[in-house]
Amino acid sequence: VDRETCAGLDRQDPLGGFRSEFTLPEDLVYLDGNSLGPLPKATLPRLTELISHEWGEGLIRSWNAAHWIEAPQRIGDKIAKLIGAGPGQVIVADSTSVSLFKLLAGALRIQPGRHFILTESENFPSDIYIARGLTQMTDGTHALRVVPRAELEAAIDGSVAVLLLTHVDYATGEIHDMRRLSDLARRHGTLALWDLSHSAGAVPVALNADDVDLAVGCGYKYLNGGPGAPAYLYISRALQSAMQSPLSGWMGHADPFAFDREYAPAEGIRAQLTGTPPILSVAALEVAVDLWLRVDQAEVRRKSVALGDLFIRLVDDTCAGLGLTVASPRDGRLRGSQVSIRHGQAYRVMRALIDRGVIGDFRTPDLMRFGLAALYTRYTDIYDAVDALRDVLIQSAWQRPEYASRMTVT
Ligand SMILES: Cc1ncc(COP(=O)(O)O)c(C=O)c1O
Repeated sequence: VDRETCAGLDRQDPLGGFRSEFTLPEDLVYLDGNSLGPLPKATLPRLTELISHEWGEGLIRSWNAAHWIEAPQRIGDKIAKLIGAGPGQVIVADSTSVSLFKLLAGALRIQPGRHFILTESENFPSDIYIARGLTQMTDGTHALRVVPRAELEAAIDGSVAVLLLTHVDYATGEIHDMRRLSDLARRHGTLALWDLSHSAGAVPVALNADDVDLAVGCGYKYLNGGPGAPAYLYISRALQSAMQSPLSGWMGHADPFAFDREYAPAEGIRAQLTGTPPILSVAALEVAVDLWLRVDQAEVRRKSVALGDLFIRLVDDTCAGLGLTVASPRDGRLRGSQVSIRHGQAYRVMRALIDRGVIGDFRTPDLMRFGLAALYTRYTDIYDAVDALRDVLIQSAWQRPEYASRMTVT
């Protein structure tokens, strides 16, 4: 594959027009949209308007007049369309970690007599920390069972309250079969809770069709909601009325402004709110989600697989003997929207790549992650990225001493 072939693919790309809707320097190859999505151009004028008019002039009146108060549900309903859910099943709230805590705690409460949360050792560490932290609050009645991925299915039994999994593995991009595992869990009376952080905007998700119980996801990766964008959570219709939030704050009260002394949960998904939503961040997320609602998701998946296949093929063809191993599934059907590559000096190689204008990230101990967000990544970006990778390795450019020490965020 040569660069001209890639340029031809870019010219024919049905999603090609979306790149111009993002602020992306022309000479940068940005392959880290799986960590922080780029800035949609429409975000800046929207936030400027919100800050100057709605906040600056409208002040407290804007909670009603500018519909700030409904924003978490309104945007939740929009995100629902991206993940195969319906109105009233999704709400925007907190961070992914906090949303996960809320749903896990709520799920344990409706699974009496079941003592385990089951997860896999490869799960995103924050999800494991949250689950363990929660069980440590239960006075020994609950525990976390962490097993290797290959042993997951055999470990699902009648003692498991919740199966907690990340749909697309953050490190390798490997996709779990959400439908099959949710069904298996259900046959044992276990609730399945899915982390969609690397799924929404990356791979197809059909929560209702796949009969998914519970899910959480992140707003700042493929969705492009901005650094620290709020997360979202989903509850199936069957569980809506049973699920109580452990963080029963006033925004989840049936009537927050009645200032009742007793807590009475709101109907439906709004009961999962805790405190006042961060309106600036919520508004930035809405701009990005509105952009997503114009996108053909099937086309996103098709292109993302093609970008991944191209990346792997170029590594195979041009980087043989340079110490690289493909850590992501080679079969595009099993791979999310990223390609991860192992190398003994992965951190330093990634630093050298970033200095050459190819941005991916590093995950310990030896992974370089390249996010292939189909909305704005070009086939030529993939060509240029692998070309730079090859060059960094051939020139040993990663050996510069300043790459030896780790920065706080990798
Ligand atoms: C799979 C997964 N879950 C959870 C999180 C944490 O999200 P938050 O920082 O919103 O709590 C991340 C962040 O990268 C993630 O990749």
